[in-house]
Amino acid sequence: MEPIVITIDGPAGAGKTTISRNLADLLSYRYVDTGALYRGVAYCAEKACVNLTDEKQLSSFLQNLKLSLVRDAAGGLKLVADGEDITALIRTPAMSMAASKVAALPLVRSWLLEVQRKLGREKAVVFEGRDMGTVVFPEADVKFFLTADLSVRARRRYAELPEESGQSLDDVFADMKKRDEQDAGRDLAPLVAAHDAIYIDASKFTIDEVLGQMMVFVRAKS
Ligand code: C5P
Repeated sequence: MEPIVITIDGPAGAGKTTISRNLADLLSYRYVDTGALYRGVAYCAEKACVNLTDEKQLSSFLQNLKLSLVRDAAGGLKLVADGEDITALIRTPAMSMAASKVAALPLVRSWLLEVQRKLGREKAVVFEGRDMGTVVFPEADVKFFLTADLSVRARRRYAELPEESGQSLDDVFADMKKRDEQDAGRDLAPLVAAHDAIYIDASKFTIDEVLGQMMVFVRAKS
């Protein structure tokens, strides 16, 4: 089978991470969670007290930032920033919002565009994100847009949260709705299905059913 680039875009909580990881495993591909990269930028910028409205400051911060995603022993992805494992630190509700905020900044998007394209050079990768099929890899071999009803996505995300998060289901629903609006409403690389993406509404399907549907398209292309 020829190695190909597969993109999976969609809103938060649609199951992109689980599906991307499983699809990559089925194909013996790498998978790249690009949302983790945006979260990493947000976390590190906050830690370094970067003034996001100061382009000079932001640009020199990005020039010195080193982010890498490595597969961990359990099969998940570990995000390392300048040698520090920040995997758990980027998964808070506050970091979800902070990531969505930095994701609207042109400097951040163009810096990550290069990082992501480098990761795709050798193909055999599944990329998940918001603009993988529209902006980062418009020539990707197979593109999916994975979504689900907001209430289904919020319930799923709520079930994954640790008890100490202190968030109610209503909080998760409201945060997700706000983030959807921010991501879909921004000028740069908004969350939208590519015109040639295969649209899958996962509200009524199991993970295995979604994977089965995806594999049909992937086999036809590779
Ligand atoms: O996927 P995840 O929820 O981890 O993404 C966090 C945020 O990063 C999103 O809400 C979105 O604003 C941003 N993002 C993006 N483009 C991507 C991936 C994520 O703008 N390709």
